[in-house]
Amino acid sequence: ELGTYRHYMQKEIFEQPQAIANTLETIAGGNVISPQVFGAHAGEVLGATRRVLIIACGTSFHAGLVARYWLESIAGIPCVVEIASEYRYRESVPDPDTLVVVISQSGETADTLAALKHAKSLGMSKTLAICNVPESAIVRETALRFVTRAGPEIGVASTKAFTTQLAALAMLTLALAKLNDRLTSDDEQRYLTALRHLPVAIGKVLELEPQIERWAQRFAGKQHALFLGRGRHWPIAMEGALKLKEISYIHAESYAAGELKHGPLALVDKDMPVIAVAPADELLEKLKSNLQEVRARGGELYVFADAGSAIEESEGVHILHMPEHYGMLSPVLHVIPLQLLSYHAALVKGTDVDKPRNLAKSVTVE
Ligand code: M6R
Repeated sequence: ELGTYRHYMQKEIFEQPQAIANTLETIAGGNVISPQVFGAHAGEVLGATRRVLIIACGTSFHAGLVARYWLESIAGIPCVVEIASEYRYRESVPDPDTLVVVISQSGETADTLAALKHAKSLGMSKTLAICNVPESAIVRETALRFVTRAGPEIGVASTKAFTTQLAALAMLTLALAKLNDRLTSDDEQRYLTALRHLPVAIGKVLELEPQIERWAQRFAGKQHALFLGRGRHWPIAMEGALKLKEISYIHAESYAAGELKHGPLALVDKDMPVIAVAPADELLEKLKSNLQEVRARGGELYVFADAGSAIEESEGVHILHMPEHYGMLSPVLHVIPLQLLSYHAALVKGTDVDKPRNLAKSVTVE
């Protein structure tokens, strides 16, 4: 089943162009995003949606965090994202009109399922599952659903499930934006073109593997790493840190780059590699000054830039240029090199990549 790949994780990373293409099949031919992709009566529910609450765990939670930036800026819909194990035990104020979106690869995660049931018990009946397994427990509990088509994900570290969740959440954002009259047909076409081009764009990022492998070799000897990002790429920094600790057992932390001087900067010295997610977006200049603060303390920088992020290689500053800048959808591309980095760091360390210690693929107990 592995073919020419050494591990399922590697295979699944490289399956992402196809997984995304399959997930986006509903928009492949047509020129519009239809609410019906979320269920027969989705138009009515989505048309009345004024608020969104996203609930998930782990990597799926990070997908939700990216979606929050999209939903608020593209669709103008306020969005809150909660960790399932917190939400289910928290005294929250329910709003029956809020659309509750649960995200789960497996559809069996105990906390996410319990949090969904908890929301329903509080009178929140507008529910949508974004899930990779059609007959799973979570999908059976929601009024609306979108099944991602990542195919079976075997590696414990989630990769293609994450990017297909992002594709689904981008479609949800566009459907809501349209129903809210926030999307001109020109913009809709632009987004659709960008979505359809994603498999090719991801393919080009995957070609950067040799350079990332070289970085991973320098990395594997480190005890700690810091991941920084801003805006919609902050959750990508979080996801990069989760991947690294999960399979290479290197202690990794992620921060919104603006938080650096509020504490974590104290950790930075020559032994602390700092990974920055640095696309050419509206926050790049802000991020660059954070990176200078790191350099001034001797921290070694590994910067994931893209076309247009004018950052120069220099002593202690390593730059990987991704070939395209991808605007709003850029988080989908920027997570790919971070997946590859942790995969290769784990290979150097000789850990059990597909079955990291202490972890299960599907967390069916709390
Ligand atoms: O199946 P789910 O998406 O509900 O799983 C949630 C988390 O357990 C999962 O994403 C976990 O964090 C991954 N192992 C991360 O790679």
